[in-house]
Amino acid sequence: MIKAGILGTGFYMPDRIVTNADMEKIVDTTDEWIRTRTGITERRFAAENEFVSDMGARAAEMALKNGAIKKEEIDLIITATVTSDYPLPSAAVLIQDKLGLNGVPAFDISAACSGFVYAIGIARDMAACGSYKKILVIAAEKLSSILDMQDRNTCVLLGDGAGAVIIGESASSEIMSVVLHAEGSKVKMLYQPAGGSAMPATADTVNQRLHYLKMDGKEIYKQAIDKMPAVLEESMKKAGVESGDINFVIFHQANIRIINFIAEKFGWSNEKNIINIQKYGNTSAATIPIALAEAVKNGRIKKGDVIAISAFGAGLTWGGAVIKI
Ligand code: ACO
Repeated sequence: MIKAGILGTGFYMPDRIVTNADMEKIVDTTDEWIRTRTGITERRFAAENEFVSDMGARAAEMALKNGAIKKEEIDLIITATVTSDYPLPSAAVLIQDKLGLNGVPAFDISAACSGFVYAIGIARDMAACGSYKKILVIAAEKLSSILDMQDRNTCVLLGDGAGAVIIGESASSEIMSVVLHAEGSKVKMLYQPAGGSAMPATADTVNQRLHYLKMDGKEIYKQAIDKMPAVLEESMKKAGVESGDINFVIFHQANIRIINFIAEKFGWSNEKNIINIQKYGNTSAATIPIALAEAVKNGRIKKGDVIAISAFGAGLTWGGAVIKI
């Protein structure tokens, strides 16, 4: 088996900053409530004419540059998203076209907030088998397109953005473990009821606001603080490392209280915990690769560091991984 690692990292955030004060003008909320209950101060919303494929392509370009990889070397593209430009085809083919990589296979995976962990698990195994040599993995979301701006329970939490990594054979970096889980019996804790084959779009579904995200935040919270530490334990065990061996941890950025609770459980100090929820909110699958690429860019995460990641989201899905950068 080939040892697959991360060869390059990139991210892209849309320009438009939406502060909590801006959200106060849209729904009955306060900056104080949002900050103390979630840790979010502001988020980014993509422009009207800026889509998942645009953001994904920009993050991919940065990952190529960061890894000093020519785009022609990419032989597979995997995109994790739940807000592709169109219900079909995939965001991956649109990104492939935007990058000018005609002919390169491209597909999406749908695992909501855990999408990036799922995607690197697939890419790592495909690279390890030697089927593909340099795999572009992108996680990109335009969640503002499915946010109900009349529902204060959800609209203050989410934002837009994209992260990307390139996965392939490496002498230094290694994806040491990936662990994935799902529990389909809890679909309705977090879902978008209409727009799929169960409830195609009609005037009624639009009037009833069923094309927007619905979430039972309290239940999701309980599930997250149960499943995320457990999958981290599994990932570290599989990688043969202990919590003291981890240089940095990146949690899915859904709520600062979830992040701090789990970090404390493992004895990981703030210095080890990469957090960007305050400025970007929850960008679903994109949160972890954005945080990773930004920490690499600003020199916080360096070659040789061992990082643990853990994600949890709709599905329910959850996953963890240990990666030597
Ligand atoms: N502003 C002001 N008040 C609000 C707001 C708001 N934006 N939102 C909710 N409230 C109110 C509620 O109506 C409730 O009022 P009530 O007691 O009169 O009914 C009160 O605040 C408390 O609400 P809770 O739900 O108890 O608040 P909680 O502290 O649980 O925080 C939150 C809610 C932030 C949603 C939290 O439960 C959470 O973070 N859950 C997890 C979210 C998550 O992890 N999502 C994962 C994935 S997302 C994805 O996959 C795309």
